[in-house]
Amino acid sequence: MASLPTLLPNPSAESQAISQALTLLIQQKMTQAGGWISFAEFMHMALYAPDLGYYSGGNQKFGQSGDFVTAPEISPLYAQALAQQVMQILAITQGSNLVSSILELGAGTGKLAVDLLLELDQLNCLPAQYFILEVSAHLRQVQRENCQAKLPKNLFDKLIWLDVLPNKFNGLVLGNEVLDAIPAHIIHKTAEGWYERGVSFTDCKNGEFIWQDNTSCLPALVEHLPSDLADKLPVGYITEVNPAASALVRSVGDMLETGAILLIDYGFGAAEYYHPQRNQGTLMCHYRQLAHDNPLIHVGLQDITAHVDFSQIASILDMPSSPLECKPMAMSLAGYVSQAQFLINCGILSILQQHSPEDVEYMKLAAAAQKLLSPAEMGELFKVICFSKNIDEPLIGFMQGDKTHTL
Ligand SMILES: C[S@@+](CC[C@H](N)C(=O)[O-])C[C@H]1O[C@@H](n2cnc3c(N)ncnc32)[C@H](O)[C@@H]1O
Repeated sequence: MASLPTLLPNPSAESQAISQALTLLIQQKMTQAGGWISFAEFMHMALYAPDLGYYSGGNQKFGQSGDFVTAPEISPLYAQALAQQVMQILAITQGSNLVSSILELGAGTGKLAVDLLLELDQLNCLPAQYFILEVSAHLRQVQRENCQAKLPKNLFDKLIWLDVLPNKFNGLVLGNEVLDAIPAHIIHKTAEGWYERGVSFTDCKNGEFIWQDNTSCLPALVEHLPSDLADKLPVGYITEVNPAASALVRSVGDMLETGAILLIDYGFGAAEYYHPQRNQGTLMCHYRQLAHDNPLIHVGLQDITAHVDFSQIASILDMPSSPLECKPMAMSLAGYVSQAQFLINCGILSILQQHSPEDVEYMKLAAAAQKLLSPAEMGELFKVICFSKNIDEPLIGFMQGDKTHTL
């Protein structure tokens, strides 16, 4: 399944020691579990094991000197365009005499929080609070330090870090590249039926991790495939399914009273995600700006991600709102478009044109816009999906380029 990555740089001795400690921890877990764990469990430990996991440890992850660059890290232009959509949602929800806030899921370095708060301040449209829910204690600390250094006190005072989702929320819930970082399961179609692909380790070769199928695959995992597809896919087909990603969005929907959930990530609708030719899944690892598909090496030192099945995310609308109450959630799909279309709908080109081409900043901003918008870079692979509750107005980010038919 995983091809060997093209020559990755060697980690430092210190990084190797951390990776070795995490490897031992995962091996212990496997031994306790009878020698095998699901890939979701492996990915969870590799990314989030306290102190040792990729997102929990102290290594530099984001930006040019880290492993990958996300849209907010590319340029403040991203937050400035996004702020137009945020402003509309805050205005609608505040208009009904509610206290309207922002809740950002998985805030990385805090860059989006800083740029958004600065822009919303300029637009005279600050939220009551800016909450951040972040699973990594290390990143929470990084966010706090960056926000404190880059925001004036009145804006920094808007920030509140949460440990769990609140019971009720009004305003906008925002997540950039969070769903792809949620541990996914892998399923493999064999001549005998669907197996769950997980991870084990060898007794030889320094105990390296290996792929191993478990012949008893939970039917609930296969049920995440579109109903007519599971039988049609060819033997040998491997794909990810991610019940935890849709469960997270669904919990967010449960607590939302009035407002919207805006999620930006790379992925596709089910027909494209489970295309017969995409027969090796979508797993990607990022290590020092190199992308490859082997998550079993450099454990804890590299990012591991899976593309998002946006049809699965949209299917939360058909789920009952609680085990006791079998009514669909009172939430609707407010839009689904490519990132390029969303940013253009939000006026990114007009924001760019506010700078003179003679201005030294202009070249930098134009290069950033090209990265965010170009179909060959982030423009088409990244999508923006939005759910809303008790909002009737069409949202500006979704006025043109609707892709909901692909869900
Ligand atoms: C790829 S990073 C993206 C960071 C940031 N949003 C950005 O665009 O630069 C994924 C982030 O999501 C966080 N994360 C993962 N699962 C989460 C969850 N269930 N709840 C909140 N944060 C989560 C990670 O710790 C990390 O901060």
